[in-house]
Amino acid sequence: MKKKALVFVFGTTILFGFGSCKKDQVSTDCVSNTTIHFSTQIKPIIDNNCISCHGPGGNTPSLTDHASIATHATHIYNTLTANGAQLMPQGGPALNDTLISQFSCWISQGKQNN
Ligand code: HEC
Repeated sequence: MKKKALVFVFGTTILFGFGSCKKDQVSTDCVSNTTIHFSTQIKPIIDNNCISCHGPGGNTPSLTDHASIATHATHIYNTLTANGAQLMPQGGPALNDTLISQFSCWISQGKQNN
């Protein structure tokens, strides 16, 4: 039930959020049911854009591994979209829509450690 609700919420976000905003090439990963991989897609997003400030001994939350990223996933998504949370990466610019879409798909697919 909870998972279905999440899929619905993010599916709706993508449909309405990205349908009206064409500033970047929109990812079709969720639509085509392609599995998002943590090791090759999600971890690099964090490593390339966040870890300099959220690594060991850095700012809270620490985003060093699957467990910490999965635990804070919704919060992270809200920062990527500046939705009720401070925009991250701090100081901007926001990540491109394709990366944000991949992150939301990873959440809706159950935050797998794959
Ligand atoms: C230049 C340094 C820097 C970068 C890069 C950065 N952050 Fe942050 N982040 C911070 C700081 C500093 C805070 C604490 C802000 C505060 O408490 O006001 C923070 C707070 C957060 C929070 C908690 C926000 C809240 O409302 O409590 C989250 C989640 C977060 N960052 C995620 C990310 C993600 C995801 C990325 C990469 C896309 C990222 N950050 C990149 C410096 C950074």
